Amino acid sequence: MKISRNTARLKPSATMAVSARARELKAKGRNILNLSVGEPDFPTPEHICAAAREAADAGFTHYTPVPGIPELLDAAAGYLNRFYDAGASRENIITGNGGKHCIYNIFACLLDPGDEVLVPAPYWVSYPPMVELTGAKAVVVAAPAEKNFKVDPDMLEAHLSPRTRMLILNSPSNPTGVCSTREELDALASWAVDKKLIVLSDEIYDRLTYGGLQAQSLCSWWKRFPEHFVIVNGVSKTFAMTGWRVGYTLAAPELIKAINRLMGQSTSNVCSIAQKAAVAALNGDYSFVESMRAAFERRRDITLRAVSGWPDVFCPEPHGGIYCFPDVHRHYGAAFSDSVSFCSYLLDEAGVAVVPGAAFGDDRCVRISYAVSDDILSEALEKIGGVLARNAVSR
Ligand SMILES: Cc1ncc(COP(=O)(O)O)c(C=O)c1O
Repeated sequence: MKISRNTARLKPSATMAVSARARELKAKGRNILNLSVGEPDFPTPEHICAAAREAADAGFTHYTPVPGIPELLDAAAGYLNRFYDAGASRENIITGNGGKHCIYNIFACLLDPGDEVLVPAPYWVSYPPMVELTGAKAVVVAAPAEKNFKVDPDMLEAHLSPRTRMLILNSPSNPTGVCSTREELDALASWAVDKKLIVLSDEIYDRLTYGGLQAQSLCSWWKRFPEHFVIVNGVSKTFAMTGWRVGYTLAAPELIKAINRLMGQSTSNVCSIAQKAAVAALNGDYSFVESMRAAFERRRDITLRAVSGWPDVFCPEPHGGIYCFPDVHRHYGAAFSDSVSFCSYLLDEAGVAVVPGAAFGDDRCVRISYAVSDDILSEALEKIGGVLARNAVSR
């Protein structure tokens, strides 16, 4: 069968590839410690599940308006207004099947073949393929560990062309966990407005921040320049609801209408029951969010303590998300020569799964997820440390 050129060139997600190899080894009886997961390891809180059960029992099982039920649009706008004074109302919100679907819809509605999108690296694995599915080009702007994984306007300017239309920002970041400060975000936002670009700000990890730091949002810039900013968020990470598939977009009404048309002809609404669950999440008690956040902060600290003892490894401190992204490239040599071979080596030698940095646009690093129990995390980190220590001696 002939598969379309666009789809045939899509690479399988690297995170999925690592999980598949880890499962294969597990099936052969190996004890695998999996630090490649991209989702909170907590169950969805009971009051959210109860809202879904009630919706199903009440027969709320039919099509809803494409953008989402009005109470969910209000709940999402309410969230952004409460935390970021966004000045949003339901006309500015549209839901999607997860933040991922929201991001895809935004690209599909804003990009034409030949357009260019500035994608700071390390980037979330799905940005470049999603951009490229529209026929546009992902222009990668490298921000290595020495730069704290952060781009500045000068670095972006060097990659600007007459075809540049968008810039993607993601703070807290997957894979680095690094958060931009208010000043850094303001500088990038101001530069983007000056260059007449549209900024997609992916704020999906905004409630998971550490060390007393609050995530900074671009909602305030959206409020001033709605034509220049699009904000994506969702319930996946904040409420441990990855499987429910509910995300939302804050945008100017013109873009909301375009996405509405696209969804109307493709997916229709997000699952009606999941929408009710998301309303309960956004409007309900946030004490679960705080306890999950505190657990992730403890695990981040366990991770940083371990990583700081690894020889010849440099790791900018993550202040958010569920990941850290150590630079291990000084270990590359005879045993393994890049992030992919390092990860295979680690899996074979130590039974630990992490994701190669190459998948995120930085081959010097690997992504460690600390969304696992403290015990598994500590054991896995010790094993990685052992592999690196032995490698440092034998080099
Ligand atoms: C940076 C980033 N953005 C968006 C998403 C999409 O999440 P979801 O589609 O579950 O809302 C993810 C999920 O891993 C992510 O890491």
